[in-house]
Amino acid sequence: MLRRMTALSAVVLCAGKGTRMKSKKAKVLHAILGKPLCAYPLKRALELGATSVVPVVGHQAESVEKEVRALFPKAPLTFALQREQRGTADAVRSAEEALKGFSGRVLILYGDVPLLRKETLASLLAAHDAAGGVLAMVTTVLEDPTGYGRVLREGGRVTRVVEQKDASAEQRAVKECNAGIYSVDAAFLWKALAEIQPNNAQGEYYLTDLVELASKQGPVGTVVADATETAGVNDKVELAARAKVLQRRINDAHMRAGVTLHDPDTTFIEEDVVVGPDSEVGPGVSLTSGSVIGEGVVIGPGCVVSASSVADGSVLKPYSVLEEARVGVRNVIGPFARLRPGTELAEDVHLGNFVETKKAQIGKGSKANHLTYLGDARIGAGCNIGAGTITCNYDGVNKSLTELGDGVFIGSDTQLVAPVQVGDGAYVGAGTTVTKNVPPGSLAVSRAPQVTKEGWVAAKKARRAAKGG
Ligand code: UD1
Ligand code: CA
Repeated sequence: MLRRMTALSAVVLCAGKGTRMKSKKAKVLHAILGKPLCAYPLKRALELGATSVVPVVGHQAESVEKEVRALFPKAPLTFALQREQRGTADAVRSAEEALKGFSGRVLILYGDVPLLRKETLASLLAAHDAAGGVLAMVTTVLEDPTGYGRVLREGGRVTRVVEQKDASAEQRAVKECNAGIYSVDAAFLWKALAEIQPNNAQGEYYLTDLVELASKQGPVGTVVADATETAGVNDKVELAARAKVLQRRINDAHMRAGVTLHDPDTTFIEEDVVVGPDSEVGPGVSLTSGSVIGEGVVIGPGCVVSASSVADGSVLKPYSVLEEARVGVRNVIGPFARLRPGTELAEDVHLGNFVETKKAQIGKGSKANHLTYLGDARIGAGCNIGAGTITCNYDGVNKSLTELGDGVFIGSDTQLVAPVQVGDGAYVGAGTTVTKNVPPGSLAVSRAPQVTKEGWVAAKKARRAAKGG
């Protein structure tokens, strides 16, 4: 069936305090897999093509807005403030001003329900189309529906939702629950919200009253979702439980796409990470959003890869930490290497244990295998950088560049005092402090000549004995 090309906007309820989180932080800002709870529904709305998304904020409105804006810098977000929490209908009504002039459908989502899949929301919109009325809703069937609004049907058609506190014993026996997620025609929504009164057991403006009003205009569309998708977060036990489900969902997708996870229970891959087939990920690894891992990459236990790329065939040995780094093909990194922002490695580069890089471009086949700091450096191809080499890139005021040509050999325990250049094929002797440029093909050594005093120890002992010591 052809989808109607109806414009879509979204309202995401983020005003709640979340008392049971026992935290100074607003509930929707608590994170699962690296992102705040509310980032998930916001992202789903954007993925579905919402042209305007309104987070309704209340508790800690400023910090919620700040964090959400930072996460979605280019998204069409307009924040709406709900000053006082007078119920879900009042919360949605706070968004009316922000959506003034919008005609189409409004998707209503909860900021504390992170696991709802894009596919389920697409089914909700399709159910709205198919029913042809003014509202569609997500429901879920629960063995123990205590606390939820119950979905009442007559002859199969939804007629209304009754909240637990307002329900009769017979209504409480209904197991189909309201998930609180809706697609509503905008024109109907604002008119209906204005009619809703707080005539109920809790004295709140119930958004669920919309359902009865909508059922009088036409059939209410429904999509029945799995309870794992519609579950919210009320305390830190639930937060951890939702995180586990998300972790499992993401990890399963990677394994089905050909990635080997040696211990999926301890592998944390955030949304929006690409991992190529035939790659292997060890236990205790974290891969954060924006990371791109090629094919046949081996990531050893305990590695943390943040917003970095690792190209085909590379190996990250255990406990290596990458942050905004780019690793080329067939590199061998670590164990215990730290690649900081601006690290760009060509193919076949080897960086060994306790090597730290920052803003460092390193050419094909170059190696720094032990105990080294390379910051603000441009290093050519085929260089060998000895143990304990340090770029002295900071003089207390300015950062300066160290440049090595191709085929340079840097002896162990060398300090390269930037700005400084070492030309193609040059050698620097072990223990040298390089303060002046080294021309191509030359040798630089700044070591003091060695003094050896034969028999010195015996002589010292003899002196001590003579003093009667
Ligand atoms: C609501 C539904 C219920 C449904 C359940 C699913 C109503 C009246 N009831 O009940 O049918 O089964 O969700 O979880 O809608 N919020 C605000 N401002 C407010 C009130 C709530 O932003 O003034 C936010 C909350 O922070 C939360 C969401 O809206 O994210 C739901 O509110 P909550 O009070 O938990 O609704 P329930 O009583 O659970
Ligand atoms: Ca709730």
